[in-house]
Amino acid sequence: MTQVTIPETLKKKAEEIFFRYPAEKRQSALLPLLFEVQREMGWIRPEAEAWVAETVGVSPVKVREIITFYSMMRAEPVGKYLIQFCQNISCCLRGGENILHHMEKKLGIHVGETTKDGLFTLRVVECLGGCSWAPMMLVNEDQYFVLSVEKIDKIIEGFRSGNPVAPDHPTPLLGNVAGEAVA
Ligand code: FES
Repeated sequence: MTQVTIPETLKKKAEEIFFRYPAEKRQSALLPLLFEVQREMGWIRPEAEAWVAETVGVSPVKVREIITFYSMMRAEPVGKYLIQFCQNISCCLRGGENILHHMEKKLGIHVGETTKDGLFTLRVVECLGGCSWAPMMLVNEDQYFVLSVEKIDKIIEGFRSGNPVAPDHPTPLLGNVAGEAVA
C-alpha cells in the first residue's frame, strides 16, 4: 500500500472530534472523522481508511463496512463537485428523470461518469429525505431543492464560473448547521 501522509490539519481535527466523546466511546468519532477525511483529501483513500481504523481503534473491516454502506462516503476519486441526484419516487413524480437527462446533456456525461475537466461526477441515489422539496440533489454536502431545467443550468454554470449558487438548505445530517425551513 502506498504511503500517504495524513495532513496535520486532519490530525488536529481528529483530536477536536475525539474531544466531543467520552474516552470509552472513542468509536463514536468514526463517522465524523471519515467526513473530515473526505473534506480534506477529496475521497477516502485506502491508506487514510487504515489511519482512521488505527486512530479510532476499530478494525479496518469496520471502517470498510461504513464506507460501503453510506452513499455519502467516497471510496474512489470523484470530481471536485459530486452530484448525487435523487431517483426515488417523489422526485420522479415531480419530473426528476427529465431533469436528470438534461443534466447529463449539460455535463456531457452519463450517470456514474466524471467530466473530462475533473469538475463534476454525476451519480443517482435513493431518497435523500427532502421529498417535500422534490426533485432534489446533493452537490458535495449541499442540498438543492425544487429543481428545474433552468435551475440546473444556473447551478452548473455557477460551479463552472467559480460563483456557486447558494444551496437551499444547510445539511444537518452532515453536522454543518441546523437549518431553517425552505420557503
Ligand atoms: S424521493 Fe427524492 S428526496 Fe425523497
